[in-house]
Order: sequence, then structure tokens, then C-alpha cells
Amino acid sequence: MKILVTGAAGFIGYHVSKALIARGDEVVGVDNMNDYYDVRLKQARLKELPAYFSFVRMDVADREALPALFAKERFDAVVHLAAQAGVRYSLENPEAYIDSNLVGFANVLECCRHNPVRHLVYASSSSVYGGNTKVPFEETDNVDNPKSLYAATKKANELMASCYSSLYGIKATGLRFFTVYGPWGRPDMAPMLFTDAILAGRPIKVFNNGNMRRDFTYIDDIVEGVVRVLDKAPVAGHEVYNIGCSNPVMLMDFISELERALGREAVKEYMPMQAGDVLQTYASTAKLERDMGYRPKVQLADGLRQMVEWYLSDKNPLK
Ligand SMILES: NC(=O)c1ccc[n+]([C@@H]2O[C@H](COP(=O)([O-])OP(=O)(O)OC[C@H]3O[C@@H](n4cnc5c(N)ncnc54)[C@H](O)[C@@H]3O)[C@@H](O)[C@H]2O)c1
Repeated sequence: MKILVTGAAGFIGYHVSKALIARGDEVVGVDNMNDYYDVRLKQARLKELPAYFSFVRMDVADREALPALFAKERFDAVVHLAAQAGVRYSLENPEAYIDSNLVGFANVLECCRHNPVRHLVYASSSSVYGGNTKVPFEETDNVDNPKSLYAATKKANELMASCYSSLYGIKATGLRFFTVYGPWGRPDMAPMLFTDAILAGRPIKVFNNGNMRRDFTYIDDIVEGVVRVLDKAPVAGHEVYNIGCSNPVMLMDFISELERALGREAVKEYMPMQAGDVLQTYASTAKLERDMGYRPKVQLADGLRQMVEWYLSDKNPLK
């Protein structure tokens, strides 16, 4: 299959591109290489991909370049991962979310409308569950109360995809990822921020005094989910799946596990709850298991070991 992966220089996009190439798909990667976090990491990820991987530097919100690429390449499928990520940054920089996550998303949908593909798989987020207290979070739960603009754009994406699916027959699947970590991970997220600070002897910021829990999900489990879903376009037209470990971990336990993996203790700075943050995330994987025959399985201790090994290796340009 010829597959477009947007956000290919990003954490998840890089790993998905690598897996698709490894199984023989032809992959075209798109990314605008923005500097939301250190671009050297994005460049280093791209360098890891084989020379025949085709990369185009482009903004997905570009209303001329993206349609031209679709018309030229005639993709069989699209994995749309490009987005402005991060909950906290959406308080300071709302425009970036509107441009990439709404204008960009609409542009991708329009391209799929005019250049039909077998399946569009796109990234949603566990953040759509907002402050929901009923756990585990199920796809049928109400998600009308996002806590951040980031979450609101992801919920909007699900509505836009559902609408385009019924209007134009586009087969589309949204994946609600739960706190993804692993080698080549994002430097703006807790696993990498904490690793950096602990090794440098700097204090780590523990929000809400550590009274939070997250359903940390290892990158290989996410990639397996994306690839399995990609191969199974939904009969109903549009579907949404959680991809999470279904094993929420208290922040303090997460820190202890990371300290063990690093062999060092963290200096902790206790902070209040941050605006836009949620207290907990906890995925139900029942729908994923039922339809895709799999569930994330990598345990935190194993995943963190892999992450730390990569972090300390020469592959990490930010070490
Ligand atoms: N990592 C997680 O824990 C997590 C959790 C939930 C959802 N997600 C979603 O998964 C997707 C991938 O996340 P990630 O962790 O790999 O983030 P990432 O920031 O590492 O990757 C996103 C990539 O998209 C690119 N990009 C951003 N805006 C663009 C635009 N307008 N045009 C072209 N490229 C653009 C960025 O340069 C970046 O390389 C995102 O949609 C994100 O919202 C991630």
C-alpha cells in the first residue's frame, strides 16, 4: 500500500513510518518541522528512516500544497498524526492549535474527499474525556466537557471525521492515545522531562502534589494498534478507539519506577494542579480487543528501561 503519514518526524509518526516501511508499505512522510520542541530530535528521527523513505516538508494546513500532493501520489491510505500537541501549551498559544488541528485537519479531510483513500486513521486523544470520573473511560462515554483547547480540537476532529464519513463515504478511524512514552519520545512530556532533570540533578515539578494518575502506554503498543486499525477500515464508516494500557499509575509510583530505571533519586518540587490538566486517565480496551484482537501489554518497568537505554545512547541528539 502507498501510505501518507503526516507528522512523520514526530514521536509516534516516526515509529509508525518505520513499522509500515518494515512490512513493505510505500510511505510518504509529511511534517512542517516546527520548533515546538527541539528540531534536532525531529531531524534525527528522519535520519533513522531508510533512504528510500520519501519525505516532504509541508504544513498540513497548506490549501494548495497538500491537495497537489494527494493528486500526484494517489495514496491508498492516510495516517494523520500531525497536530499541535500538548495540553499546557494550548493556554499560551491557542493559534497553533486552531491552525494545525482544525484548519489542517479540515484540509486533510477535503483531500480525502477529492482523492478517495481506503482508510483515514487519525490521532485523537485521551484528553477528550476531560474531567470524567467514571473509569475506565469507554468510547461510549460522554466527552462534551474538554478541559483544554487541545482537547476541544481533538473532539472537534472526531465530529468532523464522522460528518465527512457520512457525507462523502470516507472510511475514518480516530484513535484516542493515552500518554505515550518510549525511545525517541517527546521532550515536552513528563517521562522525558523527568529523565532530563533527574540526570542533571535538577528538581522535577510534581503537579497537584503527585495526586494524579496516568495510563502510560508504550510506543510499540501504540504502533501495533495503529497498524492493525489501518488494515481494518470500519464497516460503519467512522469509529473511535481507545489505545491505552488500561493500567493507570499514580504519578509518585511512576517517578519511583523511573528512579529505579535511572538508578538515581529525583529532587521533587511539589506544585499545585495546572489549568487544563485532568486528574486521571484510564482506558477501557474492551472495544479494541473485541475488534482488533489485541491490547497494549508492555509493563511500565519494561517500557521505562527501554526508554532510558535509548536516552543514554548515542542515538539521542539531546542527551
Ligand atoms: N504522545 C502522546 O502521548 C499523545 C497522546 C494523545 C494524542 N497524541 C496525538 O498523537 C499525534 C502524534 O503525537 P506525537 O506525540 O508524535 O507528537 P509530536 O509533536 O512528536 O509529533 C507531531 C508532528 O507533527 C508535526 N506538525 C505539527 N503541526 C503540523 C502541521 N501544521 N503541518 C505539518 N506537520 C505538523 C510536528 O512538527 C511533529 O513532528 C498528535 O496528533 C497528538 O496530538 C499524542
